[in-house]
Amino acid sequence: MAIPVIDFSKLNGEERAKTMAQLANGFEEWGFFQLINHGIPEELLERVKKVCSDCYKLEREENFKNSTSLNLLNKLVENKSGEKSESVDWEDVFTLLDDNEWPERTAGFRETMAEYRSEIKKLAEKVMEVMDENLGLPKGYIKKAFNGGDGDNTFFGTKVSHYPPCPNPELVYGLRAHTDAGGVILLFQDDQVGGLQMLKDGQWIDVQPLKNAIVINIGDQIEVLSNGRYKSCWHRVLAMPDGNRRSIASFYNPSLQATISPAPPLLEKESEQVECAYPKFVFGDYMSVYAQQKFLAKEPRFEAAGAVSV
Ligand SMILES: [Fe+2]
Repeated sequence: MAIPVIDFSKLNGEERAKTMAQLANGFEEWGFFQLINHGIPEELLERVKKVCSDCYKLEREENFKNSTSLNLLNKLVENKSGEKSESVDWEDVFTLLDDNEWPERTAGFRETMAEYRSEIKKLAEKVMEVMDENLGLPKGYIKKAFNGGDGDNTFFGTKVSHYPPCPNPELVYGLRAHTDAGGVILLFQDDQVGGLQMLKDGQWIDVQPLKNAIVINIGDQIEVLSNGRYKSCWHRVLAMPDGNRRSIASFYNPSLQATISPAPPLLEKESEQVECAYPKFVFGDYMSVYAQQKFLAKEPRFEAAGAVSV
């Protein structure tokens, strides 16, 4: 079984209805799908791959040799328990925000990644407008809900990760299983080196590498806002013995001050009262809980954030 691949360009043309149906299926049945012909220029994507790989080689690789990941793996090998670690990820990662420190020594990194972030943010907003339409909400509803007031307060980050070849992939995950905390996640994953899997109907399914596609997945806040019509999915990355997996995940999240709850229009149906399935909370409170419980079940997180935010 492979996750759906959807041609996003067909949204504007004769096949709009069919494409909307595919997207609805992606949101409601999968929570994970791939977009092709998404409008981000191939030439830019090629540059993104190059500067991120160059940056790893020049500014990150040496440090990974002294990383907690490697030290803990060495201990696991010495212990010979053979059990897979639930406390460490075999991952090198840093996050780009509009106003944090970015790598400085890699030629072209800053310019290219700034351009990429601007393009991928626009794609995120288009995807959220498709969600608005599919859920029967006014256009721009989700963006406004995430914004929590005037101006642009939404939280937009880009995680640049590498998963270097692992000598003992049976002892660690690249990234342990979790659901994503935020709103919409747009992932530009490696063309060749796989390892990403999502959980569907109790089965782990590979998110197959597909050149220059963007993988879309649903975060916990969209699950709440849609009152559970869309679900955030568990996913994980397997450590691989060969190849250095590159993975660039951009997340469009609510403002930390935004109040998140099931969208009221979804609870008012003409003839019936729909049950509100999630508590209301402030996203910042949810993130405080998530920081402690990322790798645990999401339901207690919703409850804990709801209790704090009252
Ligand atoms: Fe994730």
